[in-house]
Amino acid sequence: MRTTESSQWGKIELRRFRLEELGKATENFSRDCLVGSGAFGNVYKGTFDEELTLAIKRAHAESYQSVDEFRNEVELLSRVKHRNLVGLVGYCEEAGQKMLVYEYVPNGCLLDYIVGRRGKTLTWSQRVNIAIGAAKGIAHLHEGVRPSIIHRDIKPSNILLGHGFEAKVSDFGLVKAGPAGDQSHVSSQIKGTPGYLDPAYCSSFHLTPFTDVYSFGVILLQLVSARPAVDPSRNHHIIDWARQSLERGAVEDIVDANLLTEACNMEMMLKMGQLGLRCVVKTPRARPKMTQIVRELEEGLRSTTHERCFLWGMHGTSTDEYVSVEGVGLQRFPVDADGLSLHSASMRCLDPDSIADAPHGSRGIGEERVACIDG
Ligand SMILES: Nc1ncnc2c1ncn2[C@@H]1O[C@H](COP(=O)(O)OP(=O)(O)OP(=O)(O)O)[C@@H](O)[C@H]1O
Ligand SMILES: [Mg+2]
Repeated sequence: MRTTESSQWGKIELRRFRLEELGKATENFSRDCLVGSGAFGNVYKGTFDEELTLAIKRAHAESYQSVDEFRNEVELLSRVKHRNLVGLVGYCEEAGQKMLVYEYVPNGCLLDYIVGRRGKTLTWSQRVNIAIGAAKGIAHLHEGVRPSIIHRDIKPSNILLGHGFEAKVSDFGLVKAGPAGDQSHVSSQIKGTPGYLDPAYCSSFHLTPFTDVYSFGVILLQLVSARPAVDPSRNHHIIDWARQSLERGAVEDIVDANLLTEACNMEMMLKMGQLGLRCVVKTPRARPKMTQIVRELEEGLRSTTHERCFLWGMHGTSTDEYVSVEGVGLQRFPVDADGLSLHSASMRCLDPDSIADAPHGSRGIGEERVACIDG
């Protein structure tokens, strides 16, 4: 570890990599090792001895205005350790190059799944666990480190997915220390990504932890619906699109149709969507804190898993077929692939009490098909 005139810099516990070592691990920063690129620079997968794999972020020349700025960021990142945050392992500062070396997160980012880039969709429980994990990571930035950190660029490409699809919040390239002492906010130039940017922050320049809560609310809506934050064809924000349905409890109108090809906890999807709406209310102070969001998601999961509020949809044509999902008897519905979203819009989730006397099988309520639960 290099010691410098800066006492903080001298104390950080990170590995300093040699440029040669990183070149070797990435086949000289070849295209084959490139995993993606963003505003900060390119990200490479580096393979080191003993099958150690790390992610190397190589900064564009203009990403840092000075060596001090780079060192400040490295120093800041070295203080932050949490299982739901992508861990910094080391750095490289050599021959004018600046690189950050992170743990390698193997399952891509949340954005890949929202836009269907991975050819695989996430189950409802993976979505809830991702929301809980990401919320814990952000809560740690807000309340687990001193001075606190406001991420400022919470968005699906910055939520990486590790083993078991555990969420790991990444990209502290835009981080700025949060308010200190009794300050409630820091003033700053607007940074962030359209669609996730808090309008209150844009108009006041007051950056608070609630700025991240707003962005996280948009992600909750996306986890439920798999829609872009802003629909480019209609210039429609996901908040305006989802609001009415969620307010009247009709989550089936907005839920990702892919969720209806398997057992889905609709009650939990509704809770997650409604929590998303509370995160994006106009007045920042009226939004829940990240720790509160974690509590509500965990509590929601506990309560809805016991309520048996599941729907089961299937591709194909078989009817009246019963299956057991997590110990709950459910009926399979015939849902043809083409009409999936149409069918899903007419499905309803039943409270088990309201169907206590119902015979086994589905029953009609008007045109609706209703899941009948056999406890
Ligand atoms: N530690 C990591 N492990 C594995 N993949 C990573 C890691 N960090 C980033 N990536 C991948 O590299 C890609 C680029 O990431 P990067 O953070 O540079 O840009 P971005 O988040 O997509 O966009 P922006 O620059 O607007 O924030 C992303 O697709 C991400 O999945
Ligand atoms: Mg990123």
